[in-house]
Amino acid sequence: MIKEKILQAYEQLAESYDALIDHKPHNAFYDRPTSLELIGDVTGNHILDAACGSGKYAEILMEKGGIVSGFDISPKMIKLARERNRNNGKFSVHDLSEPFFHLNDHQFDIVLCALALHYIEDWNLTIQEFYRVLKPGGRLIISIEHPFFEYTYFQSQNYFNTEAVATEWSGFGAPVKMHSFRRSLQECINPIVKNGFRIIELREPKPIAEFAITDPKHYQELMTFPAFMHMKAIKNPSYS
Ligand SMILES: C[S@@+](CC[C@H](N)C(=O)[O-])C[C@H]1O[C@@H](n2cnc3c(N)ncnc32)[C@H](O)[C@@H]1O
Repeated sequence: MIKEKILQAYEQLAESYDALIDHKPHNAFYDRPTSLELIGDVTGNHILDAACGSGKYAEILMEKGGIVSGFDISPKMIKLARERNRNNGKFSVHDLSEPFFHLNDHQFDIVLCALALHYIEDWNLTIQEFYRVLKPGGRLIISIEHPFFEYTYFQSQNYFNTEAVATEWSGFGAPVKMHSFRRSLQECINPIVKNGFRIIELREPKPIAEFAITDPKHYQELMTFPAFMHMKAIKNPSYS
């Protein structure tokens, strides 16, 4: 099953992911600057970091005055998130595609889900759970691989189909086969707006200048074509 393969891959690369995450260009100089700008002020806010990895976002958000709970499917990632954050924040093992039975209704001001939704085939339940755990008017910040990037990268034959894809990652030590689900733009937008959110901003980010120093080749590519897409949405309290 694809979910097990994704879990095994992250268990294999968790330590190396954690060792690199502070400065890995696609995260530090491309994904995080945009997500953090969209999140805005977090002082005193309760934040859910869904698929938190080894807790780098949690670390930054707690430094900025947020109160963070995170979960991830990978037990190794959760162990590393706890170690990185030295018992600050709450971290648990949980699967994004299952109901968040460990979380209460209206518990969070902000839900962040960075670079993880492409591991889920059907987003509806996950978005419904984001809606349930957010307070009315709460903010949802999502970053994903850009659907146009994925379409070309995976050389898809049918843009409209949601399909299982796989690629080899070699940037985290020993090569690992990483599986995910590629989908069209409408399949990225509609599960969000049809499950009670109003998208208020969509970003196709460009890398910040530091990216060019570490990885000039990908910097040039990302300055002309996006690899990621970010969305900021607000929970519409009148949705039923
Ligand atoms: C690219 S990493 C991003 C981690 C973190 N959000 C960040 O930006 O640093 C993707 C994460 O999604 C997690 N993941 C994959 N499938 C998941 C699932 N079904 N439920 C929860 N987490 C999942 C992986 O274990 C991994 O930690």
